[in-house]
Amino acid sequence: MKIAILGSGGREHAIAASISKSSKKENIYCIPGNAGTLEIAINIDLDINNFEAIHKFLDENKIDLVVIGPEQPLVNGIVDYLEKFNIKVFGPNKIASQLEGSKIFTKKLCEDYNIPTAKFAVLENKLDAKKFLENSKYPNVIKADNLASGKGVYICNNENESNVAIEEIFNGKFGVAKNILIEEFLEGEEMSYFIVSDGKTIKNFETAQDHKRVLEGDKGKNTGGMGAYSPSRLITKELEEKILNKIIQPTLLGLSKMNTNYKGFLYAGLMIVKDEPYLIEYNVRMGDPECQTILPKLETDLVDIFLACCDETLDKIELNWSKKKSLCVVICSKGYPDGFKKNEEIENLENLKLTEDEYIFHAGTLKKNKKLYAVGGRVLNFVVTSENFSEAKNKILFNLDKLNWQGGFYRKDIGYRVIDK
Ligand code: AMP
Ligand code: GLY
Repeated sequence: MKIAILGSGGREHAIAASISKSSKKENIYCIPGNAGTLEIAINIDLDINNFEAIHKFLDENKIDLVVIGPEQPLVNGIVDYLEKFNIKVFGPNKIASQLEGSKIFTKKLCEDYNIPTAKFAVLENKLDAKKFLENSKYPNVIKADNLASGKGVYICNNENESNVAIEEIFNGKFGVAKNILIEEFLEGEEMSYFIVSDGKTIKNFETAQDHKRVLEGDKGKNTGGMGAYSPSRLITKELEEKILNKIIQPTLLGLSKMNTNYKGFLYAGLMIVKDEPYLIEYNVRMGDPECQTILPKLETDLVDIFLACCDETLDKIELNWSKKKSLCVVICSKGYPDGFKKNEEIENLENLKLTEDEYIFHAGTLKKNKKLYAVGGRVLNFVVTSENFSEAKNKILFNLDKLNWQGGFYRKDIGYRVIDK
């Protein structure tokens, strides 16, 4: 089989690595990929938002299956577009992708189907938003409606901070804003819950906890994710039942009432408050770095899962998982998530000798004249699976120490909630 993967991050390298172990793969193409995918796939330099160019490539190269990694092309409707040409695509359609593309779409769905979530108000202009603050409790949470790569969320401790958020969002910091969301702040512990779906059947795709803040102790600015571990320490049978019954199933019912369904990975970002799950957000894809953390535990052939989702036969296959713990630490370019130097060379990587439980997934990397360069904010993901989180983290830190890349930094406290001091 010829399989193409859209995207260039650690998530897509992890997907490519998992596919490369499949008995079904013949060739893997990464569009555009990174220096890591280059080792196991053919990188194709195309813009993932240029649907026509992508269709032309898939058609000319007779690609059998295409997997969409990131949210932007999904929200822009790449699945609907490619399916018109009878191409097998793994990912949700444009309507279903609104679950991530519009926070207000999701909030309305929560309202209509009684899905537990933070209380909220939708405000259409600065004046109404500021007036609403007169009765707001603090902290509150102010969000841009559209995709903002995790950056359009402000936790505000007082009216002043809220006013700044309202100004910035309506002034277009995250693109044209027709409205904003002001939410109640939920106090609890976060957890990411994943499913995979073929539109009829859903299967659990593990849990994880990521660390979004840039500094140790979960402080500082929000990032795409500095590290993660799987499983979440919160998951129990009872909690999973509540998540499925109160959140996932009503969401899928809501989509079916809109005459559509959900195919692909669905990522529920949850806040667990006194053993009760509340939906914070949906993402219509795997998380990054959660995907890198979770996939090494998958024992079932990932290509079989993708095909079953496209063919609506997910009920026919069983998903098997290793019982091991998995931990991932992301090494970033110094300065991230703000400005950082590009094209810093990374030496030493090929000198690291990995055992079969150790993985390195690339993100913002580029190979030029046999040398490796960092070209993005998040650069490499170091993952270890182990009987315990502590050993996993120690092995990762050992390897990162050996790498000794002066252009990068990483958090040494990933997984602190599941690792005894
Ligand atoms: P989002 O992009 O909606 O996932 O928000 C980014 C982060 O902001 C989340 O991962 C939470 O840490 C935090 N957050 C968002 N909404 C809330 C809320 N209502 N209460 C508490 N924290 C929140
Ligand atoms: N790690 C958070 C995300 O993928 O959205």
